[in-house]
Amino acid sequence: TQARLTLHPAFRIGAVDRRLFGGFVEHLGRHVYDGIHEPGHPSAGPDGFRRDVVELVKELGVTTIRYPGGNFVSGYRWEDGVGPVEDRPRRLDLAWHVTETNQVGLHEFQTWLDLVGSELMLAVNLGTRGVAEATALVEYANVPSGTARSDQRRANGREEPFGVTMWCLGNEMDGDWQLGHLSAEDYGKLASRSAKAMRMVDNRLQLVVCGSSNRDMPTFGTWERTVLEHTWDDVDYISCHAYYQEYDGDLASFLASGVDMERFIASVAATIDHVAAVKRSDRQIKISFDEWNVWYFTRWNEVEGTFPIDEWPVAPRQLEDVYHVADAVTVGGLLITLLNNADRVTTASLAQLVNVIAPIMTEPGGPAWRQTTFYPFSITAAAAHGTALKVSLDAGTITTAKYGEVPAVAAAATTDGSSIQLFLQNRSTTDATTVTIDLSAFGEFTTATATGIWDEDPYAANTLADPDRVKPRTNDTVKLTDGVLTLDLPAISWTAVTIA
Ligand code: AHR
Repeated sequence: TQARLTLHPAFRIGAVDRRLFGGFVEHLGRHVYDGIHEPGHPSAGPDGFRRDVVELVKELGVTTIRYPGGNFVSGYRWEDGVGPVEDRPRRLDLAWHVTETNQVGLHEFQTWLDLVGSELMLAVNLGTRGVAEATALVEYANVPSGTARSDQRRANGREEPFGVTMWCLGNEMDGDWQLGHLSAEDYGKLASRSAKAMRMVDNRLQLVVCGSSNRDMPTFGTWERTVLEHTWDDVDYISCHAYYQEYDGDLASFLASGVDMERFIASVAATIDHVAAVKRSDRQIKISFDEWNVWYFTRWNEVEGTFPIDEWPVAPRQLEDVYHVADAVTVGGLLITLLNNADRVTTASLAQLVNVIAPIMTEPGGPAWRQTTFYPFSITAAAAHGTALKVSLDAGTITTAKYGEVPAVAAAATTDGSSIQLFLQNRSTTDATTVTIDLSAFGEFTTATATGIWDEDPYAANTLADPDRVKPRTNDTVKLTDGVLTLDLPAISWTAVTIA
């Protein structure tokens, strides 16, 4: 089949915010303990953090990292994680029915963030706690000195403030699984009060209010409207969360998950605009897509289950999905959707980072390796720069059970002025496509290189036994002749092209 793409430097969507390539670390399973933090591992530093994992996180290129949850944060006491490590309490983590040892808290996590070179995005507990505890944390983290909590931070070894600017007002408060789950009305009021108080401590804060946990939530749409009506002047972002998996062998719909994400963003953007209209406001609330990924939720829900009353393990194996080629192609497609909405979505977090639905896996005492999904993320984060451009597509359609007729190819483009970066997903499970792009509206280009993920076996994965089974491949069908680029995309593939 054939796909014709049209690109023009004047068709701009918006600047690509680096925060679009954020990650997420939750105290969950072997993410923190026996993941990023494993004292005694041969590669661990004196701080207990594995340096092999640090190197992989740097290579992945994650910018902002959301912490410490997730469902976990809705029962978390941040005070348990500061002060002498040996005095820290062991607590029940009700979200995941495990024991939280608090060996890693805010200070240790910031040490790790400094190693990986990422920025902290901190979530406060609005499940079991409220305004007082949230403002106390802002005081502890951001006030320079001279008050009880800022001096407590200094006594705990951190003279300078953490200076955290990005804050999440709770997590997924629309979900009935969430500890302290609230109605939109009640959450909207609590989020507004918390935001105002937190800003009284530090008026530089950028605040994210909880949107819906996914587009299928029964309250989706009305939740956003109600919450924004209450918090309109108090917040900068509203969150979206979405996870995708292949259901019942329906690979075509799964590969088209970006279509769902697109519709989700469009609906939330429309709701933001609606509230702006009702309020006669010119404020621009952006979207923080701060949890997104492939997650085999049914495997966790139906197979992993939960533990009985006498079992509260420390760092058990939870949500350790093994990702294959089609998962990576889907992740690449979701990144394309985020880039195509760069004007509305300016921060996002791949959920999660290590061991737990993660691009990076580790074995205790053993190696760390890259899952298939690592590659579309690392390649896009490194390549996408400058301005996102609108790509006009004439690629034919495929029929999916879930989303109806969808474009057979998904595409996004960015330009930094001197080069173009193109990201392409062929969603067809059967047909290769030849893509043609007229680039004559741009200056002279001389080189085009393409790399991507595809395989004869779309279910091939990287494992402890075979960690490099799937790697990016060079696509040498790419040609640039008289300003026209052509390229063959295999079925079920994701490809990045650099044109310079
Ligand atoms: O990422 C796993 C879980 O998914 C998070 O804890 C929660 O916020 C979401 O439901």
